[in-house]
Amino acid sequence: MITNLPKHVAIIMDGNGRWAKNRGLNRVKGHERGAEVVREITTAASDIGIKFLTLYAFSTENWKRPKMEVEFLMKLLDRYLKNELPIYMKENVKFETVGDLSKFSKTLQKTIQHIKNKTKNNSGLTQILALNYGSRDEIIRAIKKLNENHEDINEQNLEKYLDSANFGDVDLLIRTSGEVRVSNFLLWQIAYAEMVFTDTLWPDFNKDEFYDILKEYGNRDRRFGGV
Ligand code: IPE
Ligand code: IPE
Ligand code: MG
Repeated sequence: MITNLPKHVAIIMDGNGRWAKNRGLNRVKGHERGAEVVREITTAASDIGIKFLTLYAFSTENWKRPKMEVEFLMKLLDRYLKNELPIYMKENVKFETVGDLSKFSKTLQKTIQHIKNKTKNNSGLTQILALNYGSRDEIIRAIKKLNENHEDINEQNLEKYLDSANFGDVDLLIRTSGEVRVSNFLLWQIAYAEMVFTDTLWPDFNKDEFYDILKEYGNRDRRFGGV
């Protein structure tokens, strides 16, 4: 029994390339295995009763990678989403995204929209993929909207224009692969998040480790500046 479940968990899924390299495989094999772990962790989060799970899948900086890797990731995403639809339906999972989708191909944008429409009435876990996501980009886009609408600049107004408006603050941030940094992920939303960094590479991450981290979270004392 795990107590004090976080409402919103965010994960920086890192280490796919190193996992593949350690096995003498091409980096993309790590992404393929990583996609399977996304399914395992989404199901685990849904089963235990987490409300929002945001997964960093592609950053605004990841376009710097070799063209072949970027193209592979785009194809993998399209394939993953199409395969996932029956699982989203079975698990009552709603699919959402954060990030600027306009940079993706029309085909991929169509797939994303299709899966969002099909799952929009599901009422269990919301799985949010961060796609072409950068926190600075998100904040700038939100400020531009505030400005266009001549609204007061305050926290509440800014938040309603963030891509994450419907999901709120992050309670628990996890990063795999041993890197201890946030890499432009949800900078606003993690203001008071608990953080857990694990050396496990994302393709080796699993449900047991995820539940251990949730237990650790449950034992933390969140004070939010109080006593
Ligand atoms: C994370 O794994 C997946 C994406 C960023 C798409 P990496 O591809 O960053 O793997 P490493 O960090 O090179 O091992
Ligand atoms: C962060 O991982 C982005 C994703 C997990 C999608 P990176 O591997 O791109 O981050 P850095 O370059 O190590 O900071
Ligand atoms: Mg990485």
